[in-house]
Amino acid sequence: MKHLISIRDLSKEEILKILKLAKKIESGEIKPDLSKYMMGIIFFEPSTRTRFSFEAAMKRLGGKVLVMSGAKGSSVEKGESLADTVTTISQYCDIIVVRSSIEGAPRYISEIVDIPVINAGDGSNQHPTQTLLDLYSIEKTQGKISGLKIGIVGDLKYGRAVHSLVYGLSHFSVELYLISPEQLRLPAYIIEDVKDNFPVIEELSSVDSIINQLDIMYVTRIQRERFPDLEEYEKVKNSYIISKDTLRDVKSNFKILHPLPRVNEIEVSIDMTPFAYYFQQAKNGIYVRQAILSILLKEVEL
Ligand code: CP
Repeated sequence: MKHLISIRDLSKEEILKILKLAKKIESGEIKPDLSKYMMGIIFFEPSTRTRFSFEAAMKRLGGKVLVMSGAKGSSVEKGESLADTVTTISQYCDIIVVRSSIEGAPRYISEIVDIPVINAGDGSNQHPTQTLLDLYSIEKTQGKISGLKIGIVGDLKYGRAVHSLVYGLSHFSVELYLISPEQLRLPAYIIEDVKDNFPVIEELSSVDSIINQLDIMYVTRIQRERFPDLEEYEKVKNSYIISKDTLRDVKSNFKILHPLPRVNEIEVSIDMTPFAYYFQQAKNGIYVRQAILSILLKEVEL
């Protein structure tokens, strides 16, 4: 494991080892020392959780962080290429975390720099560290992953967190319910790739018929910024608004996850219920990213 670009690059065994390491880091059983390392954050798209949790992860293990937040103020504004920019930044850092709207940009960068590269989200393609913290959160709340019934709700077409998660879950025997408006279905190529791995994989338009059977409901934002035509966004933007009424007969172990940010798809009144887990999920990102950094910097063996 030299880079982390796609969840598809990891075997089930590797995923489980990362989750196990994250658990040991969270419990304090081990605390890797990253004090001799510098992490470069290169984000060309907005972020709160991924950026802050990577920074927190690195700094809490003693490491240091350099941040490039957008092209503004950098020599990209003078016409410097992406290749020259990242090659230069790689001279100052030991590991790079990249977010880009361009699908494939982190893979491209990993092929031209000689330090580890982590994909922190590329367009609608992949968000592998999000998937690892999602799997960690599922296991932490349910005590297992295989055997669960999991619904993924919202923008399954453009959501990179969803695309990664479906591949991540495909290593486990879960019943998967894909709930979206017709226009925002999971891309057919992903369904084709994974369909034989799930005992049940079903596409639905409403949560109503399935919510009371679910263990996990993974809710996502309709990704306004990815729509080529904003009129199409207007048609689907309020497709799902989860309210207390939606949850009236859910199972006692039921949890709502969300990669966040939220717009209006989960009412704020749900935050104080025992079903809301999305802010703890965001916190879990620290332990999982500490595990990933420690492995890629070779301070811990995978
Ligand atoms: N989940 C996630 O990627 O959030 P941010 O865009 O705030 O980093």
